[in-house]
Amino acid sequence: MAKTQIKSRKRVQDHGEVFTNEREVNAMLDMVKAETERIESRFLEPACGDGNFLIEVLRRKFDVVTSKYGSNKSDWQHYAWLAVSSIYGVELLEDNTCACRERLYKFVCDSHPFAVDGLFRESVRFVLSKNILTGDALTMSQADGTPTTFAEWSFVRGDRVKRRDYQLAHLLAANAKVGEQLGLFDSLNTEYDESRNELVPKAVREYPLRNWWEVAQDG
Ligand SMILES: C[S@@+](CC[C@H](N)C(=O)[O-])C[C@H]1O[C@@H](n2cnc3c(N)ncnc32)[C@H](O)[C@@H]1O
Repeated sequence: MAKTQIKSRKRVQDHGEVFTNEREVNAMLDMVKAETERIESRFLEPACGDGNFLIEVLRRKFDVVTSKYGSNKSDWQHYAWLAVSSIYGVELLEDNTCACRERLYKFVCDSHPFAVDGLFRESVRFVLSKNILTGDALTMSQADGTPTTFAEWSFVRGDRVKRRDYQLAHLLAANAKVGEQLGLFDSLNTEYDESRNELVPKAVREYPLRNWWEVAQDG
């Protein structure tokens, strides 16, 4: 049965909540098809609802993971974890955020027999709790006023992951071109990377290296 695009007239009026149907989602994702099929490609959806775009990106990435690594458990889990950890969303309404996390989690759990592993599932759940956040994408803050902060997960050696946290506002400020005039706040939170000739954001927190199945230890 087709998924409904509207929950209530009030939610449409108050929050512009009209969900995109699967056919349109896929037509739009096809415009960046190669990126959607790159396992480590990072996607952030700033008004993600219950995840109509994110689930399709994940599905495409998982097709690649399973076709390349579907016969080896440790490889499959490594690349499946990489695919999940590179997907991000912000959503204003808490019920949508929870639905989005659950939907992505369930998709992962049902995707392959290797996903049955408890440590794998626990780590995926933790990553989703850090990557899919309730917040206002315009003010880039959460309901309590604290800045929206995302975790960047990078494999550095084998299964070892480096986590660095960045404020969304700093990430966007760093997108400004070199030579553009930046506000004082922006310039304090970005630094110039000579090798890339661009501004890069400064992490607000760094964590010790962990295996991917241990990242929840840092909270
Ligand atoms: C048009 S719906 C699209 C949802 C989803 N992207 C999709 O295509 O199915 C817009 C979503 O943005 C959320 N939203 C509205 N204002 C927002 C804001 N300032 N920051 C984050 N999310 C917002 C709404 O709650 C709603 O879920």
